[in-house]
Amino acid sequence: MTTLTEADALDGLRDALGLLKDREQVAERLLVSSAKHSFDPDKELDWDAPFEDGKWFWPPELVSLYDTPMWKRMSEEQRIVLSQHEAAALASLGIWFELILMQLLVRHIYDKSATSAHVRYALTEIEDECRHSKMFARLISRGETPWYPVSPVHQHLGRLFKTISTTPGSFTATLLGEEVLDWMQRLTFPDERVQPLIRGVTRIHVVEEARHVRYAREELRRQMVTAPKWSQEFTRITSGEFARVFSVAFVNPEVYTNIGLDKREALAQVKASGHRKEIMQTGAKRLTDFLDDIGVLRGVGRQLWRSSGLLA
Ligand SMILES: [Fe+2]
Ligand SMILES: [Fe+2]
Repeated sequence: MTTLTEADALDGLRDALGLLKDREQVAERLLVSSAKHSFDPDKELDWDAPFEDGKWFWPPELVSLYDTPMWKRMSEEQRIVLSQHEAAALASLGIWFELILMQLLVRHIYDKSATSAHVRYALTEIEDECRHSKMFARLISRGETPWYPVSPVHQHLGRLFKTISTTPGSFTATLLGEEVLDWMQRLTFPDERVQPLIRGVTRIHVVEEARHVRYAREELRRQMVTAPKWSQEFTRITSGEFARVFSVAFVNPEVYTNIGLDKREALAQVKASGHRKEIMQTGAKRLTDFLDDIGVLRGVGRQLWRSSGLLA
């Protein structure tokens, strides 16, 4: 039995290190917030309103080709069409991430007490993700843009990963999927140049994702202290590899072909774009600072992160 003094000493140590916030307390707070701020996109958004002429489907500065020689040659109309296809590709990517995440969450809670707040919150997050994936799918259909699946290689890597990943590996991937897109969406929903439907979709997503990011961060912080050493090291390397996959999968190259651009040339220009590099690194900064802080960005893992282009 732990004596009061030992318990006090342990609590003191936890507080001093600032490492381990109580899992149940965090989950209880997230459950309260979920009860207050959750949205039904089918009822909340006006899906029948026509798109407004001249409005963007994604802020231009966040479109992959922005500021490249190719962009400068494109008409305003073609740029807007590209923004629509990139928004559809990101919505498709979002669904892919969310399907993986839902399975990771189910695996995470499989052995835990279903009455705990931690498990009840995971179930709530799965409910959120179900609504999001349906919302993204409806957005793609509404724009009459294609569904943009990830490449077959990434599709199979995702299948393998969601089946075998470790707990800290799962939460690192979750954050990678959520935080960069979240950063972009925070710039999108207040932007008056953007179509109201897109602003509505991104606003709902930002509000609900803030809880998911919190849950994943708190759990990953705990895991990087409590998981076995091999698992921590494995997380460093696999997270660097995810970062590489993520940066390649982030824009689906079919968007260029579908709006009549040369795919190879477009990809080469995006790769050479200083603006794009800055956007991706700025978008990932909040995450990479956090991962650095909890010891994920070390050794080989750090080199992989660098080569993904997401870490300066
Ligand atoms: Fe989501
Ligand atoms: Fe999420």
